Amino acid sequence: MSHVTSIDFVLIHISDTHLSSAIPAHNRGWRAAAAYIRQRKPDLVIHTGDIIDDETSEADRLYARVKLESLGVEWVAIPGNHDIGDGPPAAGNICPERLAEFENTFGATHWSRRVGEWRVIGVNAMLLGSGSPGEADHWLWLEKCLAASTGTRSMLCIHKPPFLLNPGESQHGTATMPEAARRRFWDLIVKSGIKLIACGHRHEYRMVQRDGVGIVWAPTTSGLPAEMTPPILSNAPGCGLVEYVISGDTVAHRVVTFQIIGGSHDRFA
Ligand SMILES: [Fe+2]
Ligand SMILES: [Fe+2]
Repeated sequence: MSHVTSIDFVLIHISDTHLSSAIPAHNRGWRAAAAYIRQRKPDLVIHTGDIIDDETSEADRLYARVKLESLGVEWVAIPGNHDIGDGPPAAGNICPERLAEFENTFGATHWSRRVGEWRVIGVNAMLLGSGSPGEADHWLWLEKCLAASTGTRSMLCIHKPPFLLNPGESQHGTATMPEAARRRFWDLIVKSGIKLIACGHRHEYRMVQRDGVGIVWAPTTSGLPAEMTPPILSNAPGCGLVEYVISGDTVAHRVVTFQIIGGSHDRFA
């Protein structure tokens, strides 16, 4: 009797690193994250945005690029509001120049790639509902991408969660995807059969389940405070990363948290 063994693939999801050449305190958790990644040697690192702290700083972009390259593993990234500016209800300032600066430093702002039997799709969801140049084209790309992925196990990566608790809730400032985009986005997700969304932005870990879709919020590596979305989780890790193991058509995830105790003594737990 023969056994078919599936090969496991490991993905590490980091977010909200807020790397800064000017504010060393933001980089404290990065050392622990980078040490863990070098030891774990994942098949792919996914960064769901807010790579840097100041979208106007070329120095921060170059600093962060060096940090990501130093991991020694393949990585991909999508932009957050600290990389290319925010959308509504903030005063929108996403512009083609910012997008070009991101692409020149970190690669494409949106992408789709195969990992084992899964397809991992990175979406520049900052454009959705922003009214910025490129939004209409990005909706078309997303619709085509999801149509092409129908029947395939797929994981979608975005910066902001689509909503906090449920898709019908009213807008909570800039905490989530703009309300103007949410219904169209969520209808697409549910129709396409996506089962897993990875996001960041809130600086706290959370797993939200709605309409058969699991939404994993990654914590930050920066040590910057979580915004502690109600209901507040008593033990929500404030600093860490998420690790996914893909085995055939299943995926499991766990949170790796870091204790930042200052100096060079950061350690992961
Ligand atoms: Fe952030
Ligand atoms: Fe953010």
